[in-house]
Amino acid sequence: RIGTLLTIPIFRPRAAHSNAATLVAESTAQEPSKLDCVVGKDPALVESVERARQLSKSNVPVLLLGETGVGKEVFAKGIHDCGSAKSAPFVVVNCGGLSRELLATELFGYAEGSFTGARRGGMMGKIEAANGGTLFLDELGEMPLDMQPHLLRVLEEGEIYRLGENAPRKVKFRLITATNRDLRKEVTDGRFRMDLYYRVAVTSIRIPPLRDRLSDIPVLSRALLDKLALHHDVPAPQLSAADLGDLASYSWPGNVRELRNVLESMLLTGERPRAIIHTDEPQVRGIRPFDAPMHGTEPQMFGIGEVRDSRRLEEAEREAILSAIDGSHGNMALAARSLGIAKSTLYLKLKKFGLDALVERAREVHAKGH
Ligand SMILES: Nc1ncnc2c1ncn2[C@@H]1O[C@H](COP(=O)(O)OP(=O)(O)OP(=O)(O)O)[C@@H](O)[C@H]1O
Ligand SMILES: [Mg+2]
Repeated sequence: RIGTLLTIPIFRPRAAHSNAATLVAESTAQEPSKLDCVVGKDPALVESVERARQLSKSNVPVLLLGETGVGKEVFAKGIHDCGSAKSAPFVVVNCGGLSRELLATELFGYAEGSFTGARRGGMMGKIEAANGGTLFLDELGEMPLDMQPHLLRVLEEGEIYRLGENAPRKVKFRLITATNRDLRKEVTDGRFRMDLYYRVAVTSIRIPPLRDRLSDIPVLSRALLDKLALHHDVPAPQLSAADLGDLASYSWPGNVRELRNVLESMLLTGERPRAIIHTDEPQVRGIRPFDAPMHGTEPQMFGIGEVRDSRRLEEAEREAILSAIDGSHGNMALAARSLGIAKSTLYLKLKKFGLDALVERAREVHAKGH
């Protein structure tokens, strides 16, 4: 059983072709169990994978629990791919990444003319898009309280109303949710509805943090490095015993994602993991770029290479956004237009840079001055 978990179809040595599409096509042709993509042989992880494999055979809702970067999305996709509806859509919605208005339209869709700027003919939401397949709601704990009854209704009645529409539409999908919050505590504290909690938490799978399965580091690192090397089209470097020792003596608050970032930095800069993890640049490791506020209670970790390489670009982006908002006095439609991006993209970027509050202030100043 453990042996099968270690088969990683897309990590096979490079053949004649190296583009990602070919590799995906190749791996589907072979039809391995898609939960094989979860790399690791730690007993607790293997147990989680086995549970996922069992649950994939039924249509019961599954709640995935685990810290940021532990692989919740990898599990969700694996469950979908192992299930009977694997050729149907797998639709992901991150309930934490969007403003409430965007999240509502994203999930439920809307009718034509339901608000200014609404598309002609209306728009199908992600819930409808998942019809016949799987809906994966990531960071469910961040869904606004007053939106929760609407989701509950969909789950209980199997029908959905697009915003601004009176006629329900039938929907049927498998629900997988994920959270890195303690949802039960959210219920106790009144931030999450109990009825929805019971609906989504029919079965749950806990994915252990990387620090509790450090013995998986060699096999995970090998798999991640091979995949990254393919992606960047460079030879995969070897990890020495000393490198592995260094990787295993770190606590990985950002879990597998952080490990991946460190390995990517190693691949691209040639630095050894020790230099990347135990960096003497205290401002880099473990802090958030700029003054972005933390979302939730989880520390948001960024791999060194990622931060270093993208920081200048991000800084320029942030500057451009600030000056556009300044120029438009907080008018988001205008700011987005002057930046040449969609308003929804602008909101996402504002959230990413922690600038939401600033827009409010710009609006207030604008209002006072008129
Ligand atoms: N067991 C694993 N085997 C291989 N890759 C993994 C594994 N776990 C995680 N990864 C990789 O780590 C990264 C983070 O995983 P994923 O996005 O699934 O985490 P997550 O739990 O959804 O994080 P978040 O809470 O931040 O949404 C991805 O690049 C994923 O491919
Ligand atoms: Mg995720």
